[in-house]
Amino acid sequence: MSRLLTEGVPAASEVSQLSALDAIGTRRSLRWYEPNKPVEKWKVQTMLEAARISPSAGNFNGQRAIVCYREEDPDIWEFISDWSQITTQMAPILIFWCYDLAGYDYQGQSIHDLLRTGALDKAHGWEYDRVGRMFPLPAILPDAIMHRLAAIDLGNAIQNAIIAATSLGLGSCLNGASGGARRNTKKYLNLPDTYVFCWLMTVGYPAEKMDGGGTRSRPPFEKMFFERKVGNPFQRDEATVKLLEELSLIQAPGPLPGRLEEINTLTKKMGLGDEWLTDWKLAPSTVGDKMGDPRLEKLSEGDVKGTVASGAEETYKLVPTVKREVLDQYRKEKGIGEAD
Ligand SMILES: Cc1cc2nc3c(=O)[nH]c(=O)nc-3n(C[C@H](O)[C@H](O)[C@H](O)COP(=O)(O)O)c2cc1C
Repeated sequence: MSRLLTEGVPAASEVSQLSALDAIGTRRSLRWYEPNKPVEKWKVQTMLEAARISPSAGNFNGQRAIVCYREEDPDIWEFISDWSQITTQMAPILIFWCYDLAGYDYQGQSIHDLLRTGALDKAHGWEYDRVGRMFPLPAILPDAIMHRLAAIDLGNAIQNAIIAATSLGLGSCLNGASGGARRNTKKYLNLPDTYVFCWLMTVGYPAEKMDGGGTRSRPPFEKMFFERKVGNPFQRDEATVKLLEELSLIQAPGPLPGRLEEINTLTKKMGLGDEWLTDWKLAPSTVGDKMGDPRLEKLSEGDVKGTVASGAEETYKLVPTVKREVLDQYRKEKGIGEAD
């Protein structure tokens, strides 16, 4: 078993957890992890249990995950797309999320099972033979629709897992995979042809604050949600907003004070050189307003260095492969082919 995984299951009374609304509000995509802090195996299983019971169209149940451990597969980050390699190098747990189109082969049975077990009833129009004529859905729907349905189902499963993780104090982030990474993932993880790999999730205890420096930018509520017709904004009730702030569903937007110092101190601690310090001024979001997308305001070298906490020591060594030259050199030394 990975050194970064601990055994043992606590009593329910010992588990501290956030409520659903608090966990939804507290969740951020966290990209800095304690690389050497072990994660309890029961928490990883909890994420999978949460993913298992997520809803799926027509009870498709195509969600699949392969859990890997950085300690046991120390080179696994090498075939992940370069945008995600820094995060992947730190996280003790890597979950590869896929959907399995073979689930459609059993969909008739899965829906009959809903009749069998009393989830669906005759009053709603469900009957054994009618279901048998309609399902499995590939018989009546084109491939593109099947993939769309399966991807949405997988998204539901992933989100359940994320909320469970947040509720138990773990950080997570979804990460994309480029073409080369996709090919390698298939071989490395022994994925059957019916599996479609979608996202790599990094999981671990956050090295950054759980608030990730504040909630991330979103367009104004009224531009996203409507009543009766698009263009007629859903009226956002301020009393409800206040209630949800108290229940922690709505939290303060970033950047919170001290965020730049946090990022840059972590950069230093994780063994990246000064060239990787974030050197622009953090400012409020412009998403959804008329200011547009102004250039980031550069900070002087001195100001940037001043954001690193004094006495911050290097405690871990990341390989800065986000830089193309470093990645190319690294791959050359390891004999990783260009197509990979
Ligand atoms: C399907 C999906 C793929 C994502 N891929 C990446 C990724 O490759 N790298 C990354 O740093 N973040 C990735 N993210 C995180 C998003 O950037 C993040 O969700 C978004 O900026 C909103 O921020 P928040 O999740 O902290 O609220 C992904 C998120 C989703 C849902």
